[in-house]
Amino acid sequence: MPPTLLQPTALRRISLPQAARKAWLREALALTFPDPLNLTGWRDFVDASVALAQRHLPADAQEAMAAFFMPEGSDALLFEKLPVDPRLPRPPKDGKRPASKTAVSEAVIAGLIEGRASILSYVNEKSGAPIHEITPVAGSEHTTSSAGRAPFACHTDAAFLAPRFSPRGLLLFGLLNEPSAPTAVLSLDRILAAAPPGLVRSLEKPVFRHPSPSSFEIAAAVTAPIVWRDAAGIFRIAVQTHAVQPVNDEAREAIAQLRALLDTLETERVVLGPGDALMFKNDRVLHGRDAFSGERWLQRAYFTDSLAPLRERTGEPRNAFVFDAAKLL
Ligand SMILES: [Fe+2]
Repeated sequence: MPPTLLQPTALRRISLPQAARKAWLREALALTFPDPLNLTGWRDFVDASVALAQRHLPADAQEAMAAFFMPEGSDALLFEKLPVDPRLPRPPKDGKRPASKTAVSEAVIAGLIEGRASILSYVNEKSGAPIHEITPVAGSEHTTSSAGRAPFACHTDAAFLAPRFSPRGLLLFGLLNEPSAPTAVLSLDRILAAAPPGLVRSLEKPVFRHPSPSSFEIAAAVTAPIVWRDAAGIFRIAVQTHAVQPVNDEAREAIAQLRALLDTLETERVVLGPGDALMFKNDRVLHGRDAFSGERWLQRAYFTDSLAPLRERTGEPRNAFVFDAAKLL
């Protein structure tokens, strides 16, 4: 049966063959995770990780990656059966990477991204770590954030930053998912196909207040559109649907309509188990999840096609990847 507007289209899935996984794992276990603040050590780790990914990713995966990173390429990609650390420590209740963890998942994440894009992070979020630990943090479990267990409505990340300063894409990597809690994804194309033209016109106006999310240690808000077209005419989106605020009556009506529309669209639900990685374009796909209980630990990395605009704005050196979001407003 062909998909309808209310049904998700199938996500492209790529499963790593067992032999490639074993060989990649063996070599990744030999890497040591560096202090990311040591830019030379971090770069060495990234370069070694990219070499491993290029050596072990089969041709169909390489082709899918190339297509994903094309401006008009696919919006999301799911890798299955990637190498994962054979023995994991308990999920970190302080949200920080456990020092006892081996560096397999980080090598896979950096290897997948940095062959074609650049990891970025913000000093104001998770201490600037290039790879974020996404697991409930003691004291934050009830928050609507990556540190919580509460339901998290579909959103994009860092919607308060201008498009050239925000992550173009996200990679979520599964380490542990006892409750099989799914990650929900919803493509912008499906939203646009279901939205009345008047709603899209309203969403393109700069009449929405985007506050900084609770995962950031700065309180800021910018007024901007929710939907826009890039230089190539491709629609893009930035929104926290639960937190965006109107600046006028048209915006208030548009937010209500958008939330009602999202309630009618069935999201694609992806259970990220150990060794699964979901890559998607942050400005083309919304993501979220339901409430969950039990132990769940994902890792997340932001990436972008060019760090040059961020370095230029903040005055950070050529090899920097951590930026102060306060300087990007
Ligand atoms: Fe998010």
